[in-house]
Amino acid sequence: DRTYDNCIVGSGLSGSTIAQQYAALNQTCLVIEKRSHIGGNCYDYIDDETTIRVSLYGAHLFHTNSERVWEYVHRFGEWVNYEHRVLGKVEGKYVPIPVNIDTVNALFDLNIQNEEEMNEWLAKEQVKFSDSNGNVREAQNSEEVALARVGPRLYELIFHPYTLKQWDKEPSDLGPEVLSRIPVRNNRDGRYFSDNYQALPKEGYTSIIQNMLDSPLITVVTDTDYFRVKDRIRCRRLYYTGPIDAYFNHLGWPKLEYRSLSFERAVQHNTQYFQPAAVVNHPQRRDHESGQEVDYTRIVEYKHFLNQTSDHTVYFIERSTDEGEPYYPVPNAKNKELYKRYQEMARKEEGVRFVGRLANYKYFNMDEAILNALEVVDEDTGRIEKDVNR
Ligand code: FAD
Ligand code: NA
Repeated sequence: DRTYDNCIVGSGLSGSTIAQQYAALNQTCLVIEKRSHIGGNCYDYIDDETTIRVSLYGAHLFHTNSERVWEYVHRFGEWVNYEHRVLGKVEGKYVPIPVNIDTVNALFDLNIQNEEEMNEWLAKEQVKFSDSNGNVREAQNSEEVALARVGPRLYELIFHPYTLKQWDKEPSDLGPEVLSRIPVRNNRDGRYFSDNYQALPKEGYTSIIQNMLDSPLITVVTDTDYFRVKDRIRCRRLYYTGPIDAYFNHLGWPKLEYRSLSFERAVQHNTQYFQPAAVVNHPQRRDHESGQEVDYTRIVEYKHFLNQTSDHTVYFIERSTDEGEPYYPVPNAKNKELYKRYQEMARKEEGVRFVGRLANYKYFNMDEAILNALEVVDEDTGRIEKDVNR
């Protein structure tokens, strides 16, 4: 029985970055992963029937403004520039998401030509809220935030029904932060992200993470729940990237709530494409033509990513659910308060660092997860790094 310099719970991007960094500093690492595979939620694999690379936990698009992260990920494989575009199926039409000039022109049969006209149109749509004295007041909930930002028409066509599907709650019952950053573009930019760097790993995310963990100083064990083996392993430091409430399970406090997703796989044989883009959002409750219920939020067709070739195509129908893998923290006062209590406990836990999206009860993009993990190692080793474009 050896003592490792670092034990790392979880082999997602957070845990793998920490392991890679310590191995580079000549320290030993034990990575403990409870799933049967490495990579956390970034895990992808080749679909047997179609030979198309797909993701087990939903589509992952890499985008960042961080020079440090961009340089870092290139150490572990080739990346192909890829600008993600999303379409929404609204009133039977495929329109750009986020909403831009083309979206508005298509939905309302307009002919807006430039930023100025778009701003004018938006200003007419936007709802202003005032208090009893007639003074403009801030939006109180997500419905008001959305109405103030895009007005009632876009709200009812897109944001209201989509939010209902995603959260199973009325936007008026959700805090303003849920819809506070609705992106609406006053130009024709049809890209989903506007970061400086946008790319996909040529051989997939699993391969990138495999390469991060590829060191004689790193031992990876899968199919192993940390809590089942914790009394049998020895480490100088522990990095925990699992759910923070699971770590303090013995306290008998309630669980932190998450929204989850289910993925229904479907194949079409001898078909070039099932839909016109990799990701099509379905905000509306009913299909425009058939009137049938549409209970899913998105359909992802992986063949579009990096122009993969196959005689067939495979797609995944996403539905938002309460049960399942923890994906999106539910932003409400109860959960925030509870997380604070867990955070206090975590602070007192000697020799343990809580890292990553689950331990922080926070949605992290991949680049944020990597940067956060790099900075945790900076801090713990007294290393000074500069990242100009944070
Ligand atoms: P995770 O990937 O969740 O890894 C945590 C690991 O810890 C898991 O493998 C888990 O099995 C393991 N673990 C937990 N508890 C234990 C235990 N007790 N014992 C052993 N192991 C344990 N980001 C983007 O930048 N672009 C995107 O397009 C994008 N799309 C996303 C789509 C979806 C549906 C979701 C949910 C996330 C998306 N993300 C995206 C975010 C991205 O998935 C995260 O940034 C990333 O997964 C964070 O890595 P992590 O290591 O912190 O967490
Ligand atoms: Na991950």
